[in-house]
Amino acid sequence: MKKHNDIEKILVSEEEIRSAVSTLAKKITEDYESSPRQLLLIGILKGSVIFLADLMREIGIPAEIEFMKVSSYGDSTTPGHLNITLDLPQLDLSGYDVLVVEDIIDSGRTLSFLCNYLHQRGAASVRTVTMLDKPSRREVAFVPDYTGKVIPNHFAVGYGLDYAQKYRDLPYIGVLKEDVYKTGS
Ligand code: IMP
Ligand code: MG
Repeated sequence: MKKHNDIEKILVSEEEIRSAVSTLAKKITEDYESSPRQLLLIGILKGSVIFLADLMREIGIPAEIEFMKVSSYGDSTTPGHLNITLDLPQLDLSGYDVLVVEDIIDSGRTLSFLCNYLHQRGAASVRTVTMLDKPSRREVAFVPDYTGKVIPNHFAVGYGLDYAQKYRDLPYIGVLKEDVYKTGS
């Protein structure tokens, strides 16, 4: 089975991704190049890994990287119950400009929770960059500082984004065929 067969349509092509990453990196470079602090990119596992890898190579100033993982617990009808399942090492964040790198913002809960946490941990500054945003799905007010593409209310896969842990390896961002959800295969 070829990995492209389950895709109904492409939402963001490889070329559009490259161009969005380059625009984001340019803006981020401009905004941080005169800061006296160290830039720290924090990738949220697993969805952000490909975006983070591309973005950090385009950013024109030195950046360190760390990773965090956040999971929701309890039943999904009680939103807001988030758990950090991979935390930062014991790191004094007061010397860092933190930029959280996310694949997609949906309800906004993950990033608003993480930004609060990182402020509590003493980060000198905290901003967010997301490859994709679905603002129509917000449950809490949250506006990212840098956005690659705003997309309509579709479930997106590829370029790091998964459905049941699959499709992260697609080089573009697409929408799955409906029968993939139905049959679960
Ligand atoms: P939020 O807390 O609702 O903003 O959740 C964002 C997280 O939900 C992302 O980091 C993704 O892991 C996941 N997610 C939301 N929408 C999609 C999608 O369209 N495709 C894949 N994952 C998604
Ligand atoms: Mg995620």
